[in-house]
Amino acid sequence: MDKIKLKEQVEAIRQAFGYINCFKNETFVIKIDSALNANGLFPVLVKDLALLRRMGIRIIIVPGARTRIDEVLATYGVDSPTVNGIRISRPEAIPFIKMAAFDVSNRIMTMLAENETGAIIGNWVKARGIGVRGGVDFQNSGVVENLQTGVLNKVLDEGIIPIFPNIGWSANGKPYNISSNDLAFTISVQMKAAKLFFLTTGGGVKAAGFNIPDDVYVSENGIISQLTLSQAGRFLDLNQSDEHNSGRSLISHAYRACKRGVSRVHIIDGSAEGMILQEIFSSRGWGTMIYTNQHEHIRPMAAADIPGVLSLMQPMVEAGALVARTASELSEKMNDYAVYEVDGTIHACGALHVFPSRQGEIAAIVVDEAYSSRGVGRKMVSYLIEHATKMKLAEVFVLTTLTADWFRQLGFVDGHIEQLPEQKREIYNKCRNSLVLKYQISSQRLNGELQVE
Ligand SMILES: CC(C)(COP(=O)(O)OP(=O)(O)OC[C@H]1O[C@@H](n2cnc3c(N)ncnc32)[C@H](O)[C@@H]1OP(=O)(O)O)[C@@H](O)C(=O)NCCC(=O)NCCS
Repeated sequence: MDKIKLKEQVEAIRQAFGYINCFKNETFVIKIDSALNANGLFPVLVKDLALLRRMGIRIIIVPGARTRIDEVLATYGVDSPTVNGIRISRPEAIPFIKMAAFDVSNRIMTMLAENETGAIIGNWVKARGIGVRGGVDFQNSGVVENLQTGVLNKVLDEGIIPIFPNIGWSANGKPYNISSNDLAFTISVQMKAAKLFFLTTGGGVKAAGFNIPDDVYVSENGIISQLTLSQAGRFLDLNQSDEHNSGRSLISHAYRACKRGVSRVHIIDGSAEGMILQEIFSSRGWGTMIYTNQHEHIRPMAAADIPGVLSLMQPMVEAGALVARTASELSEKMNDYAVYEVDGTIHACGALHVFPSRQGEIAAIVVDEAYSSRGVGRKMVSYLIEHATKMKLAEVFVLTTLTADWFRQLGFVDGHIEQLPEQKREIYNKCRNSLVLKYQISSQRLNGELQVE
């Protein structure tokens, strides 16, 4: 195995260890799209869920059953139309809908048993009818009213995975066909889940066709990568006319769940092998994440960060883009350094070295390649300039061999060696032939627009 691959694997293992500790005894609600049942890798997905349970995560599964319900109704010739994506569940259809819903749940329970993981299917959901909306009587289609959380907690405490078919019962035992997305949302809120997952066949929500708020990052493959609560709210406002679009509907569920205490909601591709593990145990997600808690931030470096910073710098040092630093050099200048952290892992760094002439040197700006071109480098420089401003410095400068154009884009202008502080001139390494760029500190921020997270 080559050195780079090995390094990547070791890094992945380190990240995974961090997350295992973080999520032990937390509750994750997993809604599985019904179309995934037919996927060849479905048993692998269920195996991964069993693995998560064994790691001490409290797993709750909500299987969608729409595809199976359609199949069963078609087999028995029962008509059951939908209006705006909601099924009109006639009383004569209900026995077949129940059969299909429990069939899907049973299949997952059997697969969990094959993985030596206990599971239980229960009638823990109280529901009531949707009633008549817009002149349409939805009959036995219902909405979730409440859950028996006490019983559920006992089941989870025993290490058993509860499985929720999309059926709820009224106080007098009348069954209702309920939306499994609504059900997953309610469970995540009432069980105070740390995460709610929507496992779909298509992965995250595609940006195409939606009005996207300006500050939202869309990945190269056109997926809305992540939304803060405020961005999700603006996304929903901008796309009100798409009320019945499935992507918007998932973001709406996610938004409401986050508003009511769920930290993160992930919309990911359940048909891709290992996707849920990737999403949980690495800081780089592939689907759409809606989140409330601080996912990423820039902060001063601490002693414990030094190994992570050195390993971040190493490839840049080898490529000749950065001067090598040792652990003790970093330790001596600890207060000068800042790091960009995502879920406890360092993905960028930078330093501001202060000189008595009220000048500051911006140095050691490095961004993990996996995070490049997302504005992280820009944010780091902005953070350091904010810091320099607070320290009442007159200007900052940078010595660079390969990134002069990038700094120019950030508002730096060309300077000269003679303008460097005396101490820096003395040690200026002519062999590297670095260019000098400087930035005058004024009340304006970098290019008048940068803000620190
Ligand atoms: C330079 C560096 C810090 C940029 O980080 P980043 O987080 O990707 O930067 P941003 O997202 O803020 O900006 C990305 C933009 O800058 C451009 N860019 C990146 N490196 C550049 C360079 N050397 N020259 C000119 N433009 C560059 C990218 O193409 C991208 O443009 P786009 O938005 O049009 O796609 C990062 O590439 C890095 O770590 N480089 C190696 C270390 C280094 O040279 N550090 C500087 C020493 S002080």
